[in-house]
Amino acid sequence: MSRKADDLAALVRAQAGAEAPALGLILGSGLGHLADAVDGVSIPYDALDGFPHAGVSGHAPKLVVGTLEGTRVAVLGGRAHYYENGRPDAMRLPLEVLHALGVPELVVTNAAGSLREDMPTGSVMLLSDHINFSGLNPLIGEPTDARFVPMTDAHDPGLRARLRAAAEAEGIAMPEGVYAWYSGPSFETPAEIRALRTLGADAVGMSTVPEVILARFLGLRVAGVSVVTNMAAGLSAEAICHDHTKAMAPVGAAKLERVLRRMLRG
Ligand code: HPA
Repeated sequence: MSRKADDLAALVRAQAGAEAPALGLILGSGLGHLADAVDGVSIPYDALDGFPHAGVSGHAPKLVVGTLEGTRVAVLGGRAHYYENGRPDAMRLPLEVLHALGVPELVVTNAAGSLREDMPTGSVMLLSDHINFSGLNPLIGEPTDARFVPMTDAHDPGLRARLRAAAEAEGIAMPEGVYAWYSGPSFETPAEIRALRTLGADAVGMSTVPEVILARFLGLRVAGVSVVTNMAAGLSAEAICHDHTKAMAPVGAAKLERVLRRMLRG
């Protein structure tokens, strides 16, 4: 891929060792502590030239490469969002670095609002598919024919099956559903949520979709998991604000951590 990504991957290997991680992870709002569960080397984004500043509170902007449940993993402990800088490709370089490190598959996590009564705050949802409600795309400007990425089965059926099996083994309900990407940073209106429901969305959030597109562009298998931090606008009297997202994320994050650990144990 890019020369820059190769150079950064060499820097990461020099610190963390040459063995390719078996799994990549991107941690969403309020889920950053999972990075601390990894026994390995931690490199702040600031030390990786060109990595985003990932300035959203609730994120831990560092790359951690090491072992979790006996599996070598590479964890991006924070993401940049489109709404921070107007760049839908804000996570391209970090994903290129994972690719250059030899990461074959990726689990992308996020905090999301639920559009389904049977998926209340504290639930976890496995993404079966997504709707790009933003109309933006991280591959705009990519000059090669590789930009025409097929998105059928973008959410890898095999990786999803392993995540489902891990949730089942842990006794954790993890329904599958469709995630809609809304640009943010303002939350949605109740009318937008009604529109999204009609379009077939089950959850809504401000991230993940560009990363899934970039992962497929790079040839990584990818699956996503949402942690429900609130019912979406107009669906309950519950507060919708970033503090609430950060406060509620740990409930679903604890479930997500058990699912991931179980999957990594095999
Ligand atoms: N909408 C968009 N993004 C979110 C939400 C929401 O309701 N909750 C957490 N992230």
